[in-house]
Amino acid sequence: MNSVNQSLLPITAKIDEAGILHIGGCSTVDLAEKFGTPLYVYDEESIRNCCRQYKQAFAKYPKTNILFAAKAFMTSAICRIMHQEGLGLDLVSGGEIYTAVKTGFPMERTFLNGNNKSAEELEFALKAGVGRIDVDNFSEMELLDKVAKSINMKADVLLRITPGIECHTHDYIKTGHEDTKFGFDLSQLDEAVRLIKEKYLNINLVGLHAHIGSQIFETTGYIDLVGVLVDKLAEIREKFGITLTEMNMGGGLGIKYLESDDPPSIDELAEAVLGALDENLKKYNYPEPILYLEPGRSIVGTSGVTLYKAGSVKVVPEVRKYVSVDGGMADNPRPALYGAQYSAVIANKANQERTEKVTISGRFCESGDIVIRDITLPEIEFGDIICVFDTGAYNYTMSFNYNRVGRPAAVLVKDGKAEIIIRRETWEDLTACDVIPESLALPKAESKCAGCCACMG
Ligand code: LLP
Repeated sequence: MNSVNQSLLPITAKIDEAGILHIGGCSTVDLAEKFGTPLYVYDEESIRNCCRQYKQAFAKYPKTNILFAAKAFMTSAICRIMHQEGLGLDLVSGGEIYTAVKTGFPMERTFLNGNNKSAEELEFALKAGVGRIDVDNFSEMELLDKVAKSINMKADVLLRITPGIECHTHDYIKTGHEDTKFGFDLSQLDEAVRLIKEKYLNINLVGLHAHIGSQIFETTGYIDLVGVLVDKLAEIREKFGITLTEMNMGGGLGIKYLESDDPPSIDELAEAVLGALDENLKKYNYPEPILYLEPGRSIVGTSGVTLYKAGSVKVVPEVRKYVSVDGGMADNPRPALYGAQYSAVIANKANQERTEKVTISGRFCESGDIVIRDITLPEIEFGDIICVFDTGAYNYTMSFNYNRVGRPAAVLVKDGKAEIIIRRETWEDLTACDVIPESLALPKAESKCAGCCACMG
């Protein structure tokens, strides 16, 4: 079955007779008009469809738990959707735990990851009832034991290992190869298990965890990963007489950003993982463990698009035509960080012939602020709405306030209705954390009021 991650557009995307792109039954031109631009638009049906497809694909292994990797798109409304769809959450910080707790998320379905969690975050996680904590290294193990002891609790943990698997993706988003900051090297695993068994009595070891990287296009890495994880479970049973009952395979399934991208479907991923699991468990006659997966991008990536308004045009004679939009690298840092490429349409000219090669540039003060280099589109005019596809994962969560530009709003669309799930940041929000110390106070006479609402005394 085709899954949403194999499509460029959200599943509800349609073009009407006037050539206007609709998502979730809403005209994107109307959305831009009503909520302003830039605007993140999330298609609820696509998100829920992905959640259901993951559950269905892994249904034949009932011990599967799908945890949404919140780092891909974390906000209160998404926690609520995951709650309703019966998924868990992979969390990585106190802020993410706090968000989940605030929405009333069932915290036993959450998992805390990260390579440098603070004592404060670990204590909060334990008190909030986070289901499992991943232990990434020896210092963290010592810290977690100390924190758990101080509040008289025992932490259920999985040890994160570096499985030594290279996958073909951008260097910055590979994590499973040996030279990485994440997880225990395989040569350190025995020592880690021994320490928990003999010394760290407030830690209860239940399983192993690994994550090979992100935006992965081959299932072979996952097949290899299952092999490594089951090998290590069997080895621990043999050496220590402990039968661990859980394994977490991380996330990473890729999505289609360009017509030429061809990621595996969720079903193909499940088939590869479950086939390899069955084979490896049989090899050691190992009892079926609880299996966790942590997909992020493949659940929300295709579901989200960004709407921008076209502004200034600059033609460099015989070189390039730049069309600047009202957002850019601060709402989508991925092109500048990873050389990420995107597809787009002019939302109000979606049925017109593409005749002109342009470069869509952002509004921020950096030459590298390019949204899409060299894309062929219908002729762009000032005020056209440009819709960039597949911006649902790691765009809002990695957005920032460079040039003191507020972050965009996000709306959730469904059946012709659009609802705000993140309100647009105002100039007031941008100054909310600023403090002028007493030592910088202006002498009374110089303290002039400009008569505007921004007066800071
Ligand atoms: N589990 C762990 C332990 C992870 O580190 C990650 C992602 C995931 C799950 C979810 O991976 P996904 O299914 O979303 O690929 N900012 C980068 C991606 C960084 C991924 C970090 N870890 C980007 O925009 O491409």
